[in-house]
Amino acid sequence: MSRILVTGGAGFIGSHVAEALIEASHTVAVLDNLSSGKRENVPEAARFYHVDITDKEGLEAFFAEFKPEIVNHHAAQISVNRSVREPCFDAEQNILGTINLLEASARHGIKRFIFASTGGALYGDAPSIPSNEDTPVIPLAPYGIAKASAEHYVRFFSAERIEPVILRYANVYGPRQDPYGEAGVVGIFSLKALSGEGCVIYGTGYQTRDFVYVKDVARANLAAVDGKPGTYNIGTGIETSINKLFSEFKRLEGSLKVSHDAARAGEVLRSVLDVSRAGNDLCWQPQVNLSDGIRQTYAWFKERIG
Ligand SMILES: NC(=O)c1ccc[n+]([C@@H]2O[C@H](COP(=O)([O-])OP(=O)(O)OC[C@H]3O[C@@H](n4cnc5c(N)ncnc54)[C@H](O)[C@@H]3O)[C@@H](O)[C@H]2O)c1
Repeated sequence: MSRILVTGGAGFIGSHVAEALIEASHTVAVLDNLSSGKRENVPEAARFYHVDITDKEGLEAFFAEFKPEIVNHHAAQISVNRSVREPCFDAEQNILGTINLLEASARHGIKRFIFASTGGALYGDAPSIPSNEDTPVIPLAPYGIAKASAEHYVRFFSAERIEPVILRYANVYGPRQDPYGEAGVVGIFSLKALSGEGCVIYGTGYQTRDFVYVKDVARANLAAVDGKPGTYNIGTGIETSINKLFSEFKRLEGSLKVSHDAARAGEVLRSVLDVSRAGNDLCWQPQVNLSDGIRQTYAWFKERIG
């Protein structure tokens, strides 16, 4: 069993990752600046450090005290819109923050660095659908540019004998996701369904995404602890339209209404990941189908907000 640092472990995905690692008997520390994460998301069995990844001294003190063997890096600025408005801020958090962690990892002899990257924002309007890991990286916004750059740094630090595992997520959904943000359609639809307001679909609704349940993503992170180093897509391989997603919510709330608005400029029309490499090399496969995942997510929101 390993001592594992989960950065961003007070956030949506990181908190599920921390939980899965603890369940598998690893010793976990969560490091988070609570900018979007919440203290109550951190599992009780994890040690919590209120530290910012841009604070080099804070990181150094953390590494000296906790002595992690593996770093699992989920802390990030996650808003694509903000990255367009404030590209310097995005790069400070997502590129320089990652380099700070890699430097500290090298100084402290970390064995492995697991990095939460993105499929959709890297492949953009991909020429090949489903997109595998060899699809050209053509990010459409600074968020994707920074993630692509951070991936290169993670691989570069393998020269320091740090094994790189890069997980490129599809659209992750599930309990604890932020329903108030600009993205994350499952959270937004959940909130609209609960308030009785009705959902808005931009454009035809035939645009597609690959929706992967957060507990499946957490299991992929567990597989990444001792699986083969490399770069892996983590999704379902199933292309789901926004109309189909809406119909899943409609099954749960029969009276739910929908209205259409103009398509959003620059929106990618089709996005789905080929996840066969993770299947072969990490022995990982998604297990939760969309209907079950939506039901569990909606039940979670209902309990808290409804
Ligand atoms: N949600 C998705 O569908 C998705 C898709 C692809 C990739 N990702 C990546 O997964 C990771 C987690 O995303 P999420 O959806 O859980 O977002 P989130 O906002 O819930 O989690 C991010 C966490 O990082 C923390 N954080 C932010 N800046 C920090 C800093 N400077 N120092 C320390 N902590 C900081 C936040 O407080 C938060 O707890 C991110 O790296 C994101 O880019 C998410």
